[in-house]
Amino acid sequence: MLVRRALNWLKDKITSKAQQILLTILAAGPIPKHVAFVMDGNRRYARRNQKNISQGHKDGFVALKRSIQMLEICLRLDVKCVSAYAFSIENFKRLPEEVDALMGLAEEKLVELCDHGDLLDQYGVRLNVVGRTELLPESVQQAVRRAESLTRHHHKAIFNLCMPYTSRDEMTSAVQFCVQNAAREGPNAIITEDDIDAQLMTSLGGSPPLDILIRTSGVKRLSDFLLWQCCENTQLQFTTTYWPNFGLLDFVPIILDYQLKVWRS
Ligand code: FPP
Ligand code: MG
Repeated sequence: MLVRRALNWLKDKITSKAQQILLTILAAGPIPKHVAFVMDGNRRYARRNQKNISQGHKDGFVALKRSIQMLEICLRLDVKCVSAYAFSIENFKRLPEEVDALMGLAEEKLVELCDHGDLLDQYGVRLNVVGRTELLPESVQQAVRRAESLTRHHHKAIFNLCMPYTSRDEMTSAVQFCVQNAAREGPNAIITEDDIDAQLMTSLGGSPPLDILIRTSGVKRLSDFLLWQCCENTQLQFTTTYWPNFGLLDFVPIILDYQLKVWRS
């Protein structure tokens, strides 16, 4: 027992040292300002590991832990903004027990974040919950408001937790706002691309342009995530790893690829 503990301690020590070296080398090159994740493959991960779907999302606790680890890796690399697709508006159509499990997980983790906001405090990260938060259960909305207000004074980095979100909904709201504004200004008012861009939920939260969008689990779709933001310079990266297994070793080649493209441009 003692030997196993000592070996695990040693393994963790070596892993964190190796990780630190890897991150220091990577940080010497150009670093993307904004990285987004479509955290896909939780249920397939659950099935492959003989777990039921809610357990899969609870191992969505594994997924969540993974999300926090990836957020920390991004912050250590000095990525200024990280966006994560945690729940699509379409996901409300899933089985109620699965939706409930995800909502429970979101509430629990947001509350935990407020109680031990170490990571967000340590890196000065402002949390923005992006999307139609009014569709969330009241208890989750409360947790969202509390977590957001606790990090409002942070200005070093941004974490956009997108839930419940779809890009078409975001663009529709932005256009509606611009049209109402133009109607107030009179018949000669013109709506420009910049006007719409400025009203996107991510822009309102201060996010820089999106440099890399990563989707895990081998699916090559954007699933209504940050469609406007995926402009000409965004690099799309698809990896076959399921989200709960996605780690630093999957992330390093993506960053290296980004750096190569920046150096070549
Ligand atoms: C997609 O996998 C994942 C989700 C719908 C939820 C993502 C949630 C987490 C990573 C945990 C954190 C959650 C919150 C709400 C803070 P999938 O269910 O589509 O799996 P599949 O592609 O294998 O079917
Ligand atoms: Mg999926």
